[in-house]
Amino acid sequence: NLLEEIEKLEKLFTVDTQKLKDIVAHFIGELGKGLATDNGTIPMYPTWVMDWPDGTEEGVYLALDLGGTNLRVVEVKLDGKRAFDVMQSKYMLPAELKVGSSDALWDYIAECLGKFIHDNHFGKYDMDNRVALGFTFSYPLSQDSIDQGVLRTWTKGFDIDGVEGHDVRPMIMAALERKQVPIDVCAIINDTTGTMIASNYTDPETRMGLIFGTGCNAAYMETVKNIPKLKGLLPDDIDGDTLMAINCEWGGFDNENIILPKTKWDRIIDEESPRPGEQSFEKMVAGLYLGEVLRLVLLDLYTEGFIFQNENIEPLREAYKLDSSFLSMIEEDPWENLSEVEDLFLEKLGIKTYDNERKLIRRLAELIGTRAARLSHCGIAAIAKKAGLTSCHAGADGSVVNKYPDFKERGAQAFREIFDWDMPVEEFPIKVVVAEDGSGVGAALIAALTHKRTAKGL
Ligand code: BG6
Ligand code: GLC
Repeated sequence: NLLEEIEKLEKLFTVDTQKLKDIVAHFIGELGKGLATDNGTIPMYPTWVMDWPDGTEEGVYLALDLGGTNLRVVEVKLDGKRAFDVMQSKYMLPAELKVGSSDALWDYIAECLGKFIHDNHFGKYDMDNRVALGFTFSYPLSQDSIDQGVLRTWTKGFDIDGVEGHDVRPMIMAALERKQVPIDVCAIINDTTGTMIASNYTDPETRMGLIFGTGCNAAYMETVKNIPKLKGLLPDDIDGDTLMAINCEWGGFDNENIILPKTKWDRIIDEESPRPGEQSFEKMVAGLYLGEVLRLVLLDLYTEGFIFQNENIEPLREAYKLDSSFLSMIEEDPWENLSEVEDLFLEKLGIKTYDNERKLIRRLAELIGTRAARLSHCGIAAIAKKAGLTSCHAGADGSVVNKYPDFKERGAQAFREIFDWDMPVEEFPIKVVVAEDGSGVGAALIAALTHKRTAKGL
């Protein structure tokens, strides 16, 4: 019966305290491997962001943010006193561009940038006098300097030919040239690095940047003496305590299937994704996949004869039909009569639900959301332990941490279990602090920091 099915699902999706601790221990080892060699499953990319902002950074910078759900152009005014003003335009990223051609992507981006400049700075810049831009390109990039980056693999469902293996800067610069947009891309950064730097600007206790959104990832600041793979890439006389921001790309954690408690549905998601065998961890915790797990479990329960027996379930067969906001809405529905769940299933899928089915759906959403929060906090705990961070803030952004009910609370509960903390949550030494829309500001700050570094001759 349905109750037994719920119990089975509870077993499959629950990550207990001991498992959390085991995952953290394994995670720490993998972070170390990524710092030591170029072949870690967590790649630990040096970003060439080599300092915290000191708060005096000022000026006007342009940033372009291509990462999760939107494409954003942001103009940031840093006031030199740890505050900023932002003016931004959001552009939809049409779904077909995510699996289209490389030129189509870069041309669309160049057009959005051209429109922004035309609307806000008409006549101020020309092709001989370009405005500097920090580009937040949130995919795994290996970088030899701040103003270039080779795309290693697409993530988050993107699948565009001709970009992997190439430096993205010449591609975007060529499109800007084609469209005659007077912009110079001077820094390329990840959203996690941007969020970390922007959060640190307003809150100097920040030591990490986290994204819990369409994808999931983290950045933190490491000292170069702890990054063996940088040997030979830095001047010999560089001080070992010099800082280097690391874009972990932890989505690839456990691609070898050693420790994560994967279900059959996680495996299906992986197999049917454009890049099977990659981003194992991300596929269990990030917003892009949460609704897909729910959909696959429901389909199985239908096939086994437990739910929706007299309904037309064809709409539920469409891959990625349910996004994480659908799951959020299910979880926001109080348990009483689950009328919101009833409406959601009717409106989105044309499926009529009974009371016991709604209870199962609600519980299943809770299990999927809780698993995501608990597993992703293993990553934060691992970085904290690895970097010896006993007390700090971690700036976090993305649709899941901003909108998913109880995500932060569930994450804090995982911390309590991992670290054996018994103080009240408000006193936890490591806190995840939401920093909405920070990465554009981060890109601006990094452009400003890059300036300083060049001036120092580094
Ligand atoms: C935004 C940041 O607020 O959050 C982006 O500006 C980041 O840089 C994004 O990629 C992540 O969230 P989502 O939910 O859009 O993937
Ligand atoms: C994916 C990307 C990574 C990004 C994260 C959050 O994991 O590979 O670069 O930081 O999503 O957007």
